[in-house]
Amino acid sequence: MAQQIRAAILEGRLRRGSRLPSSRALAESLGVSRTLVSAVYEELVGEGYLEARRGSGTYVAADLPDLRPSAGQTSRPPAWTPRWQGEPPSRPSSRDVDFTLDRQVVEAVSARSWARMWRFLARQKPPVDLGPPEGDPELREAIADYLRRARGLRCGPEDVVVTSGAVRALELVARALVPLGEAVAVEEPGYPAARRVLQDRGARLVPVPVDEDGLRVDRLRAAGGVRLAYVTPSHQYPLGVRMSVSRRIALLEWAAWRDAVVVEDDYDSELRFDGPPLPALAGLDGSGRVVYVGTFSKVLAPGLRVGYAVAPRWLRERLVQLREASGDRAPWPVQRALAAFLASGDFDRHVRRVRRRYAERRAALREVLGSLDGLARLRGMEAGLHAFLELAPGLDEGELAKCARERGVWVSVLRPYYLGLPDRSGWLLAYGGLPADTVRHGASVLSEVLREAARGSRPVAAAARALR
Ligand SMILES: Cc1ncc(COP(=O)(O)O)c(C=O)c1O
Repeated sequence: MAQQIRAAILEGRLRRGSRLPSSRALAESLGVSRTLVSAVYEELVGEGYLEARRGSGTYVAADLPDLRPSAGQTSRPPAWTPRWQGEPPSRPSSRDVDFTLDRQVVEAVSARSWARMWRFLARQKPPVDLGPPEGDPELREAIADYLRRARGLRCGPEDVVVTSGAVRALELVARALVPLGEAVAVEEPGYPAARRVLQDRGARLVPVPVDEDGLRVDRLRAAGGVRLAYVTPSHQYPLGVRMSVSRRIALLEWAAWRDAVVVEDDYDSELRFDGPPLPALAGLDGSGRVVYVGTFSKVLAPGLRVGYAVAPRWLRERLVQLREASGDRAPWPVQRALAAFLASGDFDRHVRRVRRRYAERRAALREVLGSLDGLARLRGMEAGLHAFLELAPGLDEGELAKCARERGVWVSVLRPYYLGLPDRSGWLLAYGGLPADTVRHGASVLSEVLREAARGSRPVAAAARALR
């Protein structure tokens, strides 16, 4: 009742200074006790919404400011706030095929192992404090065990720091290592969220190109002043190439030569389809120059918000201190449930299952887009949940993406993944979360759009012959 009277006053339905019914009259009309109405009036008098006038009754306070939202008043931001431009981005409808990278979905955990995970948790004693800044000990144990087994890392639970995702782990490393204006090398094209985190720390980003073998380490060597590099060697984001062994060794040699640090983001290495992944760069590193960053976002579910850093000994304590000071923790129930999920073998079963599903979807994509007569080339298909469709020169990625959208298929274009001028163009297709039939249908529409564009353009046909 108090809430309703408050709302009526704020919305102007009860005018300032107007008289309310007596507590007896209101109680009778509402069929409630008079004591209740008196208590509500008293509460609102205490809050200043109403005033009681002796011998006269209860009134809406006369000196309340006019709080009605009037047109123009609430839509205008304060003058000093930064301006952001443009309309809110449009979104695909439920009938559309959404291949865009930023709304990527993953295959769900099976209902049975999900239920098992939480049943286990229900029997655990709830925590009474914030928990250790480095993360739940059981989860760190399980992660270290997994990384030794699956990624070739030589690490123990004491080396693992649990965070709310890989990007937060990178942010933590940047807070520890990046003074204002520090030059940090990033892949070009690269992961925008990582670049944003580094820029927010005041880093000066140095884009280093990527080719078929991953980061051009020769270019990194030539870029003076860089002492930190962020890379995705298992599955370069977004092009999807894998860094060759010789480049990995060259990168570690660069780090030793420059006394530099490499952050290895191993965000989806579990999801490799043609044979096992190469061992992580951090496993090759003998001198403590690589910080390994991992996540459960791709392999399990992005909504869990759990990732981790495996830091060399000299850095680990600093990362823990920073987390301690920030009060930041991944939620305890999720950490504990994940620890059980990993330790029980359910995690390995899940990875085997989703790998099969993703492989089917990948096959569907390849079936349709694998041979486009030189108009486009499908790349980065060996791993992960997305592919790169490189377009022949002359095909406009943005214009054609618009055409595809008009036919209900949404893709991400490559341009925003560059800091500088792009050296190629194309579409990024997150196919992982879509059923194979949907992938096939979406891919057919994309193929039609490209073929129609090529028919209408002689230069494109010539470029396509060249790409073939
Ligand atoms: C390159 C890269 N790193 C990390 C992540 C995952 O980040 P987080 O664990 O913060 O969800 C993603 C997700 O898209 C990614 O593309």
